[in-house]
Amino acid sequence: MNHQVRDFKVFAGNSNKQLAEAIGKELKETLGKDFVGHCEIKRFSDGEIWVKYAENIRGSDVFIIQSTNTPSDNLIELLIMIDAARRASANKITAVIPYFGYSRQDRKDQPRVSITAKLIANLITVAGADRVISMDLHASQVQGFFDIPFDHLYASATFFKQIEKLNLSNLAVVSPDVGGIKLARAYAKKFNADLVVIDKRRPAQNVTEIINIIGNVEKKNVLLVDDIIDTASTFSQAAHLLKEKGAASIIGICTHAVFSANAVELLNNSPIDKLFVTDTIYNPKIHEVKNLELVSVAKTFALAIQYTFEYKSISSLFDTYKD
Ligand code: R5P
Repeated sequence: MNHQVRDFKVFAGNSNKQLAEAIGKELKETLGKDFVGHCEIKRFSDGEIWVKYAENIRGSDVFIIQSTNTPSDNLIELLIMIDAARRASANKITAVIPYFGYSRQDRKDQPRVSITAKLIANLITVAGADRVISMDLHASQVQGFFDIPFDHLYASATFFKQIEKLNLSNLAVVSPDVGGIKLARAYAKKFNADLVVIDKRRPAQNVTEIINIIGNVEKKNVLLVDDIIDTASTFSQAAHLLKEKGAASIIGICTHAVFSANAVELLNNSPIDKLFVTDTIYNPKIHEVKNLELVSVAKTFALAIQYTFEYKSISSLFDTYKD
């Protein structure tokens, strides 16, 4: 009889090797050995992607770390890595997707459009993933687009520590749109602060129109909280409005630093005193933003991977959202 000892291996796609290495380091520190495996990823001359696990993964639990931000090759790479792991007889395959790209198209908000979040969920599942771990989804119901287990992690616990260090009083937490209220409420609850909401409209893709502010920020230290900064039009317009309305200081908190178009310029010209972002996306542009502090979520992902393998509950990582 074969009593196989369970083991796990972590592999990284090319989208965010830096975070993958940091996760590997955390796992090594906690568990005392190296869990990062080597996967060769090459390209044919026409650009098609080729993947080969450089070691035996038969019977192993495989965790593939890959954010699916643009370019879409990141997504294709993830799908091919899952497929290769399945064909190499991995035991369980977990797609660890720190930033789940395409998640903002999560409903038919106008006729004849795609629901890309569902499409990508289908692709990941069909490729052969058994489980997905992701962080701060644009809409938490995207979990339900998957028919496989989905662990939703939050960056808030990591951000809370940074905010506590600032020792701020007279706080208001601002959501720059109605969709972000749940996220902002968790911060308001934690810091016993007022919750303020900005009424934002999207007249066209990537165009932000701020209509109104619901709540008072006068003389308050404001935490402006959002899941994504893409073009930064939402964040910078919100910051200008908050300053106009008398905010004493503005601390920006955002999980996913997409930073497309002229986001850097908009942020640098905005009245944000400090901006915290995480490393879910590898983006060298973040270093061009003044007053930006990068906060790593490697520890949270390392714990989620370890607990998943050990069949432990990871709900302790979700405490913030018990409301
Ligand atoms: C939208 O609902 C999201 O929470 C973000 O506010 C949005 O994706 C940010 O986009 P941008 O930076 O382009 O305004």
